[in-house]
Amino acid sequence: MSNRLRRSRVTAVGLGFAFLGIMGCAKKEQAGSDTLAASSTAARTDTTANKSLYDRLGGKAAITAVIDTFVAKVAADPRINKKFARSNIPRVKTELVDQVCAETGGPCAYTGRSMKETHRNMGVTEGEFNALVEDLTAALNVFKVPAREQNELLTALGSMKGDIVEVKSNATGTKLPATFKPAPPLTAIITKK
Ligand code: HEM
Repeated sequence: MSNRLRRSRVTAVGLGFAFLGIMGCAKKEQAGSDTLAASSTAARTDTTANKSLYDRLGGKAAITAVIDTFVAKVAADPRINKKFARSNIPRVKTELVDQVCAETGGPCAYTGRSMKETHRNMGVTEGEFNALVEDLTAALNVFKVPAREQNELLTALGSMKGDIVEVKSNATGTKLPATFKPAPPLTAIITKK
């Protein structure tokens, strides 16, 4: 999936993240001559076309900011927040950042549990899955991520739906079943010299 995303075509519009500034500078320099303008445009397109979705999103700091905002929205959303009542939220955030980083072609490894194992016995409905996607979209909008990048990310994550949804229903705000077992907190690895 990461490879597919890496190859995907790129918008000429920059993100509301770091590389917008670089694009802006390249644009000003185009004013010189027609020839220069043409070659500058070609170079810019080539450079941007080779960028992974990870880079176009602005790298790990930008992804971390989106996930922080997303998790805050989920915590305030009565349609889904009951499902997180017994979970370790710092772990969820760390794993989500690594997962998005890895899925978008970034230099991270996702070491969390599989989507099936993570969401087993959680009783997630289709309505709740859609509510979570709405919260993620709202977080992406806070950071003005363009539609193309949003679609690429949501398509990648959306393909995991079959491993997450257990109940075919539009209901939201359903209870967390007692049989659900949350993952333990992540522990820091301390190495002796
Ligand atoms: C595309 C959609 C989703 C993705 C990509 C996703 C991804 C993840 C990831 C990476 C984790 C951390 C796994 C770990 O700690 O090893 C996680 C945990 C969790 N997710 Fe999801 N998730 C999605 C949808 C949902 C939905 C719809 C709900 C509920 C409404 C949900 C509820 C939870 C909860 C409660 C945890 C904590 C589990 C625990 O404590 O062990 N997720 N999710």
